[in-house]
Amino acid sequence: MKFFIDTANLNDIKEAYDLGVLDGVTTNPSLMAKEGISGEERVRAHYKAICDIVDDNVSAEVIATDFEGMIREGKELAKIDDKIVVKIPMIKDGIKAIKYFSNEGIRTNCTLIFSAGQALLAAKAGATYVSPFIGRLDDISYDGLELIDQIVNIYENYGYATQVLAASVRHTMHLIKCAELGADVVTCPLKVILGLLNHPLTDSGLATFLADHAKAAGK
Ligand code: G3P
Repeated sequence: MKFFIDTANLNDIKEAYDLGVLDGVTTNPSLMAKEGISGEERVRAHYKAICDIVDDNVSAEVIATDFEGMIREGKELAKIDDKIVVKIPMIKDGIKAIKYFSNEGIRTNCTLIFSAGQALLAAKAGATYVSPFIGRLDDISYDGLELIDQIVNIYENYGYATQVLAASVRHTMHLIKCAELGADVVTCPLKVILGLLNHPLTDSGLATFLADHAKAAGK
C-alpha cells in the first residue's frame, strides 16, 4: 500500500518523508491556499519544492474546468518535474482531458470521486489514480468505505490498471480499513500517519523494559 501525504505544507512533507514511509503527495487548491501560495510563479515554485523533497507522485491540480484550459494547465504542470501527476476533477471535460493525457503518457489523478460510476468512467478514460473522498461521504451519512470496496471490486473484475487512491482520510481507522479493502493508496494528513505509531501497551511496555534495565544495572 502506498502512503501519500495530503498537504502542501513543506515541513509536514519533510517530516513524513524522513520517516521513510512516504510514497507521494497530494495537494488541491484549498491546501495550496492554506499555505498562502497563489500566483502562477509561486505555485510552480511550490510544486517544484515539493518535488525536490519526495521521490515521486506529486499531484498538482488544474484550476480550469474546460477541456482546452485543463490541457494547457496540465501540460504546464507536467513540465515542472517528472514527479508531477496532473490532478483533474471528475467532470465531463475532465474525462476527456484524462483520456488525452493518458494517450500522451502523462499521469493523472481524477479527483472528487463520490460514486462507483464516476470511478468506472475515470478508469475507462485511463486515469492513473482515482480519488474517492471517503471522509466527505461520511460527513453526509453515506459510507465512504463502502465506496472503496465497490471500486476495488469493479477494478478487479475488469483488470483496470487505475489505482484506487483513498482521499479525505480523516483518522487511522479509515486508513486501516482502506488497507483491508485493498485500496492501492491512501492520502491523509501527517497526524493520521503518525497516529499509526500509537498504542498504550507499547508505551507502558517500553517504560517497563527501561525501568527493569535500569534496576539490573543498579541505577
Ligand atoms: O485532497 C482531497 C481530500 O483528501 C480532502 O480531504 O479532509 O478536506 O475532505 P478533506
